Amino acid sequence: MAHTIVIFGASGDLTSRKLVPALYSLFKKNRLPEQTRIVGVSRSQFEHQEWRDALRESVAQFAKELFDNETWEVFSQQVFYQAGDIKDLEDFKALGNFLDEIEEGGSEGRVYYLSTMPQLYDPAIQQLGAAGLADDSDGFRRVIIEKPFGTDLASAQALNKSIHGVFREDQIYRIDHYLGKETVQNIFALRFANSIFEPLWNHHYVDHVQITVAEEVVIGHRAGYYERSGILRDMFQNHLLQLMMITAMEPPARYDSAMVRDEKVKVLHSVRKMTGGDFASNTMRGQYEGYLQEKDVPAGSQTATYAALKLYCDNWRWKNVPFYLRSGKGMSCRTTQIVIQFKQVPHILFGEKTREPLGNRLVIQVQPAEGIQLHFETKVADSEMKTRTSTLDFDFNAATGGSMPDAYQRLLLDSMLGDASLFARSDEVELAWGIIDPIMAAWNSPAAPTLYPYPTQLWGPTESTDWMAKQGREWFDVCPVLSK
Ligand code: BG6
Repeated sequence: MAHTIVIFGASGDLTSRKLVPALYSLFKKNRLPEQTRIVGVSRSQFEHQEWRDALRESVAQFAKELFDNETWEVFSQQVFYQAGDIKDLEDFKALGNFLDEIEEGGSEGRVYYLSTMPQLYDPAIQQLGAAGLADDSDGFRRVIIEKPFGTDLASAQALNKSIHGVFREDQIYRIDHYLGKETVQNIFALRFANSIFEPLWNHHYVDHVQITVAEEVVIGHRAGYYERSGILRDMFQNHLLQLMMITAMEPPARYDSAMVRDEKVKVLHSVRKMTGGDFASNTMRGQYEGYLQEKDVPAGSQTATYAALKLYCDNWRWKNVPFYLRSGKGMSCRTTQIVIQFKQVPHILFGEKTREPLGNRLVIQVQPAEGIQLHFETKVADSEMKTRTSTLDFDFNAATGGSMPDAYQRLLLDSMLGDASLFARSDEVELAWGIIDPIMAAWNSPAAPTLYPYPTQLWGPTESTDWMAKQGREWFDVCPVLSK
């Protein structure tokens, strides 16, 4: 029986750079369900073969390691194109007829992937409903929605409400591609498949947690989008909070989508609300020097390209342990890492003649040098009793003997198999906006905290370093070493 993936926004970048290469890679690895058909939909007119030819080049580039002509020829025969306008119901009806035609012999079900402009998510969903394409009486019907899911709490609520008029929650797959990253999923394994970390994973032993998503890239041609989003909408409401949830959550009873997401949501419920002076003392914002000169950035723009937040989870496990979340464009290097900074030993025996040993540190390198390092003190050989920090180092790529699959492979496959564990639920998305909205409001108010300029290729504003120092802490400003 056929499976069908319909991609709306087929002529966009995401389709050619990520989605089709990911589907090809799954096919090459024999992971795609049998008879999977891929149908691209957008307004431009293409013949099937024209679209296949256009995709061939990008798949050869973005799925380079797995690409070969023979496999492509077989795979591409199941790739189709149907021109259509999201505003036109007749086009959806025609799409329905076309899908029936290529699914002759019956279909297990369909996944509709909305990779369009965000303002078209809701119209597309309404048209799917109106054309009868959401009816799942003869096979599953699921919809994948790209980010951003709303621009604030009110718009996310409105979008959820509108989508729920057409699809049930269990048919909706909201993408956060960070959840598709192997190293993010490995946090579940690290925490819940080992017995040595979990007993320490709480306020008794952890001083604080740092979650950093640093990017070397600057805004380039994306100012139109970025001016409307800024760093909080672009990175915090989704990726940073997702990383925090997985780091902070309680173990679910089973690895099952409802239970995993229940535990994640509880973390968001526990996040302490900021009020009054908290916005000045617990948030930092910056803008890289040169941002105002980027194409299409209006003079005097106050859009932040860097942010650091200090959040607390008011719950039994994490009471008074700060979670520092930071992200920036134009930083020193590209690195996503989670640092669990353990407390200092209760009594220092060996520090007096040398230096005070740092507390232990567990560093989860999400990307690009995927791995985990444990920093701990060892004796300096041939010294009286000096210590220094040593590192136990796990390199994910070396251990798996290859490079990591792109996040979209896992997410596309899970959506076809009906596993929503790695997708955001409606309450999760709304709670996340509920944390970010008040910060955005404070930053847009007359009492907004200073927007610090910072030079590119460093670690953001020096004020952010000072802010940590005042709290007796230090950012882990280390660029990962990439293995050959
Ligand atoms: C996207 C943001 O969601 O994530 C981009 O819109 C950002 O601004 C990107 O660059 C980062 O993703 P990754 O996987 O490269 O870390």
